[in-house]
Amino acid sequence: MTRMRITTEKPGARPLPPVYMATSLGGATIPNPMLTASGCAAAGRELDQFFDVTDLGAVVTKSIMLKPRSGRATPRMAETASGMLNSIGLQGPGLDAFVDTDLAWLKRRGARAVVSIAGSSVEEFTKLAQRLRNTDGIAGVEVNISCPNVENRGLVFACDPLAASAVISAVRRSTAPGIPVIAKLSPDVTDIVEVARAVVDAGADGLSMINTSLGLVIDTQTMRPTLAGVTGGLSGPAIRPLAVRCVWQVHAALPTVPIVGMGGIRTGLDALEFILAGASAIAVGTVIFNDPGAPIRVLHELQRELGDRGFDRLSDAIGYAHRPHGVPAEPTADESAGDDEAAPGDALAGREHKEHRG
Ligand SMILES: Cc1cc2nc3c(=O)[nH]c(=O)nc-3n(C[C@H](O)[C@H](O)[C@H](O)COP(=O)(O)O)c2cc1C
Repeated sequence: MTRMRITTEKPGARPLPPVYMATSLGGATIPNPMLTASGCAAAGRELDQFFDVTDLGAVVTKSIMLKPRSGRATPRMAETASGMLNSIGLQGPGLDAFVDTDLAWLKRRGARAVVSIAGSSVEEFTKLAQRLRNTDGIAGVEVNISCPNVENRGLVFACDPLAASAVISAVRRSTAPGIPVIAKLSPDVTDIVEVARAVVDAGADGLSMINTSLGLVIDTQTMRPTLAGVTGGLSGPAIRPLAVRCVWQVHAALPTVPIVGMGGIRTGLDALEFILAGASAIAVGTVIFNDPGAPIRVLHELQRELGDRGFDRLSDAIGYAHRPHGVPAEPTADESAGDDEAAPGDALAGREHKEHRG
């Protein structure tokens, strides 16, 4: 097969502006904010045909459970007007096979691997984390708490602050210090800030948001639900405003906690929305299914959008939308020397201001 690898932007494109893109993933620094969303790029091996996966901030692997699982009955994917509904049901080879194949490949390849884990009890999450503790080559652990808790009538962990914090505290205790534990939150709750606070208090170093939102499609020909599992998780552009709202609310309440923002990102401008709302990293998922080069394309587009707005560091743009017009980020020692320089983002703030007045 011919490999079409994306290494730079299109021929003739302007060179990328020199924006410092490094960011924090809860105690660990990664060279840029672009991650793959769990479940949308397996372990990155297929994407490596299209671009160098070591160029990503990190590859987040599909959520892995202790034992192999075949997932839900088919059909388990349905298209919607601006997104996709899936009920894959955490199909996977189980932890041992994952460590020996996918994780081993990521390690050999030199990619930063964030391993997503999923369980149906606190004990299962603990066993997963303990086993990963003895495995090197892991840049972080993402904890998918959007799974039913068999010990509490199948209530999804992420919808119950107490159960969510029990999982995170067990995973944090079982994970090596220095390896970030990132809790992945569900938007299907009344108060996402309450859940975020609970998992951060329990030891989460960062938050990933959002997981898919529960939806249902009915086939008007058969007049029955399209998915065999009836309901499924909605992803793609349809959920982007919902995701940006979640990031905004959690950043406002917990401004120092790193957030990986995701939900319907397809372009650099979409990614910028999440950064301005308070995300310090972003992940792309559904878009990968029709554009496998999207992670690197969106990363380049984001860098360009930041440069065009006068930012020379990604970190200055994080949460920018929360600041009133004309209030720049806290200057660093070397920046305060050049008082005549325009504050990062002034170009955009000025433009928006004029447009609103007009
Ligand atoms: C086919 C598919 C499988 C997914 N599998 C997982 C998974 O295993 N673990 C997880 O935490 N999220 C999973 N997700 C959710 C994504 O990681 C992401 O949170 C969500 O799709 C929103 O991002 P997007 O709109 O860019 O896809 C899956 C999403 C899709 C579409």
